[in-house]
This record gives sequence, structure tokens and C-alpha cells, in this order.
Amino acid sequence: PSVPARPKGGTLDAVRLDAADCRACPLWAPATQTVFGEGNAKAPVMFVGEQPGDQEDLEGHPFVGPAGRMFDKALEEAGISRDRAYVTNAVKHFKFVPRGKRRIHQKPATPEIRACRPWLEREIELVKPRLVVAMGATAVQSVFGKAMPIGKNRGQILELDSGMQALITVHPSFLLRLPDEEAKLAEYGNFVGDLRLTAAFFG
Ligand code: URA
Repeated sequence: PSVPARPKGGTLDAVRLDAADCRACPLWAPATQTVFGEGNAKAPVMFVGEQPGDQEDLEGHPFVGPAGRMFDKALEEAGISRDRAYVTNAVKHFKFVPRGKRRIHQKPATPEIRACRPWLEREIELVKPRLVVAMGATAVQSVFGKAMPIGKNRGQILELDSGMQALITVHPSFLLRLPDEEAKLAEYGNFVGDLRLTAAFFG
């Protein structure tokens, strides 16, 4: 049976420990570990991805696999140093199906996104960023509390119900999946462009 996520800790480190034995949805069981957010505890900008991937699950850190390398490259190109930001995910366990020796990524379902949301809310409460960046549909759903089309809403500073400012962009994995080089280059450029909008918030 699942036990709702109840972040109790008053600091990020304490909440990270609370999250380590989260049982709020079934994803904890097959996963290696909870992958909590990391970075500057007073970051002016918080980046939110979907969920840890295979490598993140094994290493226990967000955005350290192929999507992370794409993210790092784009950040660098936008002139932003990752260590000044806070980086996390909407869902903190890796969801996958085994296929032979491989583990194939599965998109988190709405109940899983909802079950995990208290952790993200607590991260936002404690870090108090000036800007939350939702990368991809899952992050958008968690940050905004509803699904929103990315194409139409990306690249503009929006306001959350809480009054906090938010930016929507694509997920770095989307760029990895594009089959054609020309589209990849164009989309990568758009992503870097969105990231450049965050520079002003770093002050
Ligand atoms: N994709 C994500 O959304 N988050 C990670 O941490 C890694 C890949």
C-alpha cells in the first residue's frame, strides 16, 4: 500500500532523507533509489525535468546521463553555469520496463506525477527560486498542475498561481530523439534560446 509523500524536513538535506524512503507510488520498488534534486540551495533558477533515467537511477544524481550531457552543453552555450542553479525532476524514481539486459524508460502516469508533487513543492518552498523552468510535458504538468501545450507556451515568462515566475521549454531528451540533423540543430538552437531567457534571473 502506498503512503502519501509527506516532506517533514526543514532543510533540503532533511527533505532529501525523507524522500529516500518514499512509498507514495509503486515506482520505488523496482528503482534503485530516489533521485532528489541537487545544486545551489539558494538558486535563483530551478530546472525541472521529467524523472531520472537509467544512469541517474544507478548514480543517484539528476541529469548525469545522455539527456544531462545535452542539458549541460546547452547551458554552457547559453552562458549559464549549472552549479548556480538547482536541478530536479517532477518524478523522483526511474520508471522503466525491463527488456533483456536493458531498462526501457516509461513516461510517468498522472497519479505518479501527483504522488511525487509534494517533494517538488517542498523543494520550491525551500529554494525559493525566482524562476522555475519546466522542461517537457511531465514537468509542465507538475509545475503548473495541469497539462499545457509546449509549442504554444514555451519561451515566455509565465506566472504560476503562487505568483512565482515560470518558463516552459522542451525536454533535452526530445532533442536526442529527433531523427533528422537539420531539425535537431534548429530545435537545439531554440532550446538554447529558451535557456538564455533564464540568464537575467541569475542576476
Ligand atoms: N531525464 C530527466 O528528465 N531527468 C533526469 O534526471 C535525466 C533524464
